Amino acid sequence: LFRSVEMAPGDPILGLTEAYVADTRAEKVNLGVGIYYDEQGRIPLLDTVREVEQSLAAKGLPRGYIPIDGLPAYTKATQRLLFGADSSLLEAGRVATSQTIGGSGALRVGADLLKRVLPKAKIAISNPSWENHRVVFASAGFEVEDYRYYDPATHGLDFAGLLEDLGKLESGTVVLLHACCHNPTGVDLDTAQWKQVVELVKERQLLPFIDIAYQGFDQGTDADAQAIRLFADSGIEAFVVASSYSKSFSLYGERVGALSVVGASKEEAVRVQSMVKRVIRANYSSPSTHGGSLVAGVLGSDELRGRWEAELGAMRTRIHALRDGLVERLAAHGREFGFIREQAGMFSYSGLSKAQVDRLREEYAIYAIGTGRICVAALNQNNLDRVAAAVAAVTA
Ligand code: LMR
Repeated sequence: LFRSVEMAPGDPILGLTEAYVADTRAEKVNLGVGIYYDEQGRIPLLDTVREVEQSLAAKGLPRGYIPIDGLPAYTKATQRLLFGADSSLLEAGRVATSQTIGGSGALRVGADLLKRVLPKAKIAISNPSWENHRVVFASAGFEVEDYRYYDPATHGLDFAGLLEDLGKLESGTVVLLHACCHNPTGVDLDTAQWKQVVELVKERQLLPFIDIAYQGFDQGTDADAQAIRLFADSGIEAFVVASSYSKSFSLYGERVGALSVVGASKEEAVRVQSMVKRVIRANYSSPSTHGGSLVAGVLGSDELRGRWEAELGAMRTRIHALRDGLVERLAAHGREFGFIREQAGMFSYSGLSKAQVDRLREEYAIYAIGTGRICVAALNQNNLDRVAAAVAAVTA
């Protein structure tokens, strides 16, 4: 039966982690996957998460199914974090939010929903984008187009190209936008640029699908949600937000994400939610309890929420310092990588070629994505010197 099944290529990000795990060299460094590691090279368990987890464990709660669209305390807290506590959209009941299996689950459920509602619509994603965006939307039956985004010459944004390409899309096209900490480039739009994009999207009647997986990793939870807030204030009737707590709560394996669909009215949002529930039920029935309870527990307490913001702030500050540390060390080797300071979030599009990335892995046990994306959040004071020296060597 399966004789004709061909070997599928490894995943460009998670497949690389498999190779890293299998590598026996003690000095290995994984700058591939987007995970924040602390100074000791460990994935942190946040204090606020630990506290909620301990109190849940002490209660010994039963594990029934949770609703198809997740824990109400989780979805409510998520809405406030994304749209702001004083959001008029929330006040009007126009946002339908569901807990999903990670941000990837939110993307897939959102894609399946849109395919049902707009069967002919295409989707446009940035060039480049997170490797899995194309895969998820193509698997849901979308034709995927690119819009210009990154300018390799400046290591920054090709804003003129972006505007030109968005301006050419057919009305009704779904446009995938990264709210902050663009994955893979680390190159973001500033407020004035976002305002222009919002106007263009409105004028061209495009459907924004905002992916926010790194909220709080650049400037803070409110500042990093500015794109969502600008779309919310724009008068655009409908848009979609896929969000994730993997990074901001350091809960990668708990698969905690959410899909929020904004409709024109409360009544529309209720109907949309009923359809989202059908999609979820058909995919994986309902989300899991544990991670959602942890997030809801932290965000549901003013005290814990404040302390979580501080823990997230410490991760953010440390990433900024690691960017500085890498740029300075590379400069000491005579290499100019100052642009890494300008990029935001966990990632930097380093400009390294596939051949240079291959040499880093083969000769130095340093793993990066073939496109040259490196995860700055995997650096620390112990590996910075070695990484900088290796990058200097392969760029000689
Ligand atoms: C990444 O881009 O490395 C992360 O979002 C993890 C993943 O699932 O690819």
